[in-house]
Amino acid sequence: MTNPASAKTVHIETFGCQMNEYDSELIRAILRKEGFAFTEDKERADIVLMNTCAVRENAHNRVYGHLAELKAIKKQRPLIVGVLGCMAQNLKKELTETEPIVDVLVGPDAYRQLPNLLNRAIESQEQGFLQKVIAVDLSEYETYEDILPERAEGVNAWIAIMRGCDNFCTFCVVPYTRGRERSRDPQGVIREAEQLIAQGFKQITLLGQNVNSYRFGDWDFARLITAVANLPGIERVRFTSPHPKDFPPALLDAVAGHPKICKHIHLPLQSGNDRILDLMNRTYTRREYLALVEEIRRRNPEIALTTDIICGFCSETEDEFLDTYRTVEAVGYHSAFIFKYSERKNTIAARKYRDDVPDAVKADRVARLVDLQKRMSLRKNRELLGRTVEVLVEGDAKRSPSQWMGRTDGNITVVWEKDGLETKPGDLVPILIQDASATTLFGQPVIRGGF
Ligand code: 5AD
Ligand code: SF4
Repeated sequence: MTNPASAKTVHIETFGCQMNEYDSELIRAILRKEGFAFTEDKERADIVLMNTCAVRENAHNRVYGHLAELKAIKKQRPLIVGVLGCMAQNLKKELTETEPIVDVLVGPDAYRQLPNLLNRAIESQEQGFLQKVIAVDLSEYETYEDILPERAEGVNAWIAIMRGCDNFCTFCVVPYTRGRERSRDPQGVIREAEQLIAQGFKQITLLGQNVNSYRFGDWDFARLITAVANLPGIERVRFTSPHPKDFPPALLDAVAGHPKICKHIHLPLQSGNDRILDLMNRTYTRREYLALVEEIRRRNPEIALTTDIICGFCSETEDEFLDTYRTVEAVGYHSAFIFKYSERKNTIAARKYRDDVPDAVKADRVARLVDLQKRMSLRKNRELLGRTVEVLVEGDAKRSPSQWMGRTDGNITVVWEKDGLETKPGDLVPILIQDASATTLFGQPVIRGGF
């Protein structure tokens, strides 16, 4: 029998977080091995797969928007439509019933089954009756340890060091869509990092929903990131995200002191009010969070801090929001992702609390915080005026191919004119910072005086 996959072309669209980007790379590797081909152009694809996010409502709505677009294509020609990832896991049958154009539904722990499921769908399509296929079992063990993701080109490669989450923050759907927390064997992670360096990647970002709870035998996260940062040939190592509740001193030392570990910590605050933090089940107080910030800065004041914040969580009052506002002012983040609370199906908050802050109030709180953060980001960026910073070149600037774009150690975007020097993506270049906006630094390369 011929493999139904032969000559079938797949288009993958990725929504949501870096973990999803990584999973799409895993999915490509799994499908490529079984004979599937890929296209960037969905008009030419036999199969369109959407790797989805369920964390917030707008990611959700975007997927529904794309499904409507695919409906139009599907009216004109045969097409298999798959929804993968967190939305598939979260909405299961509901999605196939309310969205008849969805043929394939596969959750984050079932990607190994994808080639078989697609082949079943292809066969049934050829017989004239497209059969729906679903695989949404969660696993306590699946880490895709033996699969080398097919990575996008660039200077950065992601490695998932763990999957799932056991924290059950009450607003968050991740423990339900990605299941129980499990850590990968550190030797596998290190081998993968070595291969990536040999392939020419300059930066590795270690990913986990809560990297501080990484455990494998007597390995913890500080030991793992240090081992990766010690590999010859690596330029930069980043990680995301740690949970503020259990930040180990050994990790602080590693970030503060290791020359290859970027001086940047993404430290999700979510709220600056103790009652709301408690309702969110974040298990730290505002004071404990601020003490951690102080400790980080005591070890190395150069470490850039960024955060995530939710406005308008269930029953949040104006005064409680102002606690968050004042905390943001007190910390002085380099940047922040600020979200309106959106109730997610199956979460503890959806079951126990009322989503009772009016949408307009949520939007107003987000706007005020965004405004504050813009001013703070500008102030932070201006502190770098006149300084020379080391920048990892990523590629052409978005606005103009006559400019380069790269990032500082603290993850701030830097843009400068191409100058005929032999610069290429992956280079580390010293840039003198001459101008700053809230989001971008502008400068010019410093020719190092050599002998
Ligand atoms: N509503 C709004 N924001 C959310 N996040 C997670 N769940 C929700 C929700 N239900 C935000 C948190 C988290 C980030 C990845 O997404 O701030 O840190
Ligand atoms: Fe969600 Fe909390 Fe886990 Fe982060 S730590 S993935 S916010 S449950």
